[in-house]
This record gives sequence, structure tokens and C-alpha cells, in this order.
Amino acid sequence: MRKIIMDVDTGTDDAIAIMCALQTEELEVLGICTVNGNRGITYTTENTLRLLEYLGREEIPVYKGCALPMVSTLPKWRRPEIPYGGKEFKAQEVHGDWLDLPHSVNKKVEDMDAVSYYIKTLTETKEKITLVPVGPLTNLAIAMRAKPEIVENIEEIVIMGAAYAYGNITATAEFNWWCDPEAAKIVMDCGAKITIVPLDATHKALVSGKEADEILAGGTKACLAAGDFIKRRIRGYAVFQPVGEDMTPVHDALAVLYLIDKSVCEDVKPMYVDVDCGMGASDGMSIVDVDHRYEDKEPNCDFAFSANREKFVELLTKTLKAR
Ligand code: BDR
Ligand code: CA
Repeated sequence: MRKIIMDVDTGTDDAIAIMCALQTEELEVLGICTVNGNRGITYTTENTLRLLEYLGREEIPVYKGCALPMVSTLPKWRRPEIPYGGKEFKAQEVHGDWLDLPHSVNKKVEDMDAVSYYIKTLTETKEKITLVPVGPLTNLAIAMRAKPEIVENIEEIVIMGAAYAYGNITATAEFNWWCDPEAAKIVMDCGAKITIVPLDATHKALVSGKEADEILAGGTKACLAAGDFIKRRIRGYAVFQPVGEDMTPVHDALAVLYLIDKSVCEDVKPMYVDVDCGMGASDGMSIVDVDHRYEDKEPNCDFAFSANREKFVELLTKTLKAR
């Protein structure tokens, strides 16, 4: 069983990723950190708590993380939309502000904040831990700045973020890296083993409305919630970013399922990946050095350029049905 810490901005696809991690025997979820991203921290934390309570998994600790990116909101013109939430906007339907589940009553957030949790856990652990951040990388980057030695106890970081050929928030940038480009830069330069599951892969792993019906028919609590979330995403993507009729990506779930079966991702190559922090037109864009233009740079990650849609949907359905 691989020990993991998740870092989420829950969000419909984060919620499905969390459910996949909790449903499989292959992974032990030590803790879940929350972060500002899809919505402000109040939303992403409560959404995580209500999901765990709905699933009856209150024993999984939740650590509230950073309310804002490291520095990207400092010039007021740079990220005026952050933090998201409480207002209508184009991508509203993809997540909604609150997950469509009952408000949490019993499940509470831990006293410790997410950055302190990373530092404490990665300092005291006897065995290396895998990190699965599927939101902006703020918590992890700040923990690395505060205590760089924690990198020694990281087994691997599997990141949902970045993109080679896509942008989903600007024409050039992927959302998680765009939110906090400086954090992405710190994590990419940290020296740990990193795997990136970018938009290039998640947009190959689309799920259809019919497949959502099959997931719903699985009948477990995870199936019922995930099936509804996928249907919501299909409605949202039709407006926000059409990807094919009756289809949606479920980005964050692909990163978790990759840990269970690597073959859900394809065309995974060692790559040097940087991020534009220059505050210009391509601010937050991931720079993927496919042609080795940076002669002095070694690969800093494995980058998944594609995914196997059939394998992904099959494993997603099987995992959500498991219990
Ligand atoms: C990423 O951005 C968020 O909206 C999703 O949850 C996912 O982590 C995709 O760009
Ligand atoms: Ca996310």
C-alpha cells in the first residue's frame, strides 16, 4: 500500500479523485490538504469535509491550507478573479460553489494548517510518502521554502497541472499552474521525483454521459456522487470548454488512477518543464522542452502526453464500485 497525502481544491473532479483514492486497496490516504483554487479556501475545505462525511470516512484528517496563492494576487491587475466563489461566471456549472451533498455536521478540520502538516509529517516519517497535489501548488511550495529538507522524504509527487498543447483558463495556461505560477516553479525545481498528469492526458481521458449512467448504476455512495458530478461536468463543459458532445474530462481522477495503474497514461516521457512567471500574455503557462532547447537543463519530471480513455473509464468505474 502506497502512503499518500492529497492536496485538493474540491471541486467536482477533486472529489472524484479523493473517492478513487479512498476506494482502492493500493493507496493509504494519510491526510488531505485543502487549498485555494477552483473556489476560495472556505468552499474547498467545506466541500472536502462534506464529501468525507457523506462517504462515512471521517477518520481521514483534513488540513486547511493557503487561502491565497504565494504572490500572484499581489499586483491587483494580475489575478483579479482570485479567490473564486460566490458569483456567477463562465465555468460556474463545472463545479458549483458547493458540492451537491449535505453540509458537514460532524466532520471537522484539524487544528494544524496544511503547510505545518506537510513539514511535520515529512520530517517525522520513517518511510517515504507520495504526494498527490491536484490543485494549485501553494501549500507544498511554502512548506518547501520553510523546510527544504522535507524533499528527502518524498517518494514521488504526482501532479495534476500544466499542459503542453492546451490552455483552459487563458489561451496558454492550465488553471492550477496559472493560479500560482511561482509555487509551481518552486515545486518543479525541488529535485524530487515528479510525474505530471497534464491537460494533454486528461483531455484524452474523457467520460461520456452513458458512462456516467453506468457509474451511477454501480450503486455505491461513491458511484452515486461521482456519477452526478460527471453529469454536472458534462453540462458545464458544454458551455465552458466544449470537448465533444456529452463528454467531460475528470482531470484529477486521472492522477490518482495513474498511481493504481500506470497504463492509464500514455506517451509518458522524461522532460524539463518550466513555468512562465513573467506576468505577460503567457503568465502561468507551462513550458515543456520537447526539443531540448535548454541545453543546460536535465529532465525534472515524467510528463504524460496522452492517456488511454478506455482503460481510464474502466478503472474509474471499477474503483468507484469497489465498496
Ligand atoms: C485543474 O483545474 C481545476 O479546475 C481542476 O480541478 C483540475 O485540478 C484542471 O486544469
Ligand atoms: Ca483540482
